Amino acid sequence: MTPERCFLAAALCIAALALSAAAAAGQAPGRHISPQRLQAGLERLSDFGRNPEGGVTRLGFSRTELEAREYVLNLMREAGLAVRIDAAGNIFGGRPGSAKLPVLLFGSHIDSVPQGGNFDGPLGSLGAIEVMRALNDAHVVTRHPLEAVVWTNEEGSHFGISVLGSGVAAGVLGPEILDRRDEDGSTVADWLKRYGQDPARLTEARIPRGAVAAIVELHIEQGPNLFESRIPIGVVQGIVALKRWRCVATGVANHAGTTPMNRRRDALAAAARDLLAVRDVVRSETGRQVGTVGYIKAEPGAANVIPGKTEFTVELRDLAAEKVERMWSQIQERIGVIDKEEGVGTQCALTDQVAPALGDPRLQRAIHDAAGSAGLATMDLPSGAIHDAGEISRLAPMGMIFVPSRDGISHAPREYTSWNDCANGVEVLYRTVLRLDTELDPP
Ligand code: GLV
Ligand code: MN
Ligand code: MN
Repeated sequence: MTPERCFLAAALCIAALALSAAAAAGQAPGRHISPQRLQAGLERLSDFGRNPEGGVTRLGFSRTELEAREYVLNLMREAGLAVRIDAAGNIFGGRPGSAKLPVLLFGSHIDSVPQGGNFDGPLGSLGAIEVMRALNDAHVVTRHPLEAVVWTNEEGSHFGISVLGSGVAAGVLGPEILDRRDEDGSTVADWLKRYGQDPARLTEARIPRGAVAAIVELHIEQGPNLFESRIPIGVVQGIVALKRWRCVATGVANHAGTTPMNRRRDALAAAARDLLAVRDVVRSETGRQVGTVGYIKAEPGAANVIPGKTEFTVELRDLAAEKVERMWSQIQERIGVIDKEEGVGTQCALTDQVAPALGDPRLQRAIHDAAGSAGLATMDLPSGAIHDAGEISRLAPMGMIFVPSRDGISHAPREYTSWNDCANGVEVLYRTVLRLDTELDPP
């Protein structure tokens, strides 16, 4: 039966068509998605904010990202999707379903860290649009309405608020973020206005509970596990908890030539010891926990002045939120001791936190089955990176598909996933969406 005839027939018929499409997807090892179309889109997207080293700097809330968003909006329109932008700037491209059901949501982000790569976010974003185009090509009618989504400011490199758009959509973040200021003095509210949104309506971006049947995000692994074991598809068990602090060590600025070594109150020397204390504490127990001091700035920053003030960040991650808390208590104790020894005072303020998120077992199974049907081996693994899907897991079942990152490198220009691995991931996303369409909300 053709899809056109099916449209005219009863709801049961439409459901049967979706079922048969899913079944076909399960049997055929061939690809439904177009690797060429996917690659062309990713290559074009990498022009927005391109660095000489080959990666991109495309921070969330920037002119560069704004231009890239226009490109993505056009792709969505060309794919026949109904485009809308919510009050947090999140972009949605909708494709209707045949039944009145909650939406199946899938996508990622297109912002990057400073000097980032071309795959972290773009693959899941353009992969979602490619799935829609492939469904159109095959005239598939799903029961659930589908939405491809591109979330705002996932990285949080700008404003220091990670997973900002999805956090607002999940109701985890609200109007308290609007006054956060960047180094140029602009606020989140200013940037939302530049993105065409009314900050006063931010909470309208909240997705009501029950509106989403499931959230699926395709992403590069950003670590070495899949690449080293030559397994093409990762099934994410859960996403780590994260906490970040901004610390300021205050000592006394003084002459570098005339101040004896035993009379110094050097804020940078103290911060350097704090940095090593973070590493010691995190390494002191077994497990996958990680801790990073990724930013440090000494003032006044001259070769002949002992730094009087040093600002640095501390970031801790683990699947267990309690472990993050425990490590932070130990780090604070160590900083207290170092302060006394160095004659400085260090104050730390929490700037960002993301709760851990577990993958839904039904979605994990659907991803395994989808990969199996395409003849692709899978590995279960946790995510050490945070993701927008984790925020949406607060209101809907969540699943994530990972593909290999060459040499485990990410957040850097050398981030790379082979075009074949990218296409495999998008094909598994296509098949997962069809499986979930059949399995969730049975008639
Ligand atoms: C985002 O990629 C993060 O894990 O910080
Ligand atoms: Mn990402
Ligand atoms: Mn990232």
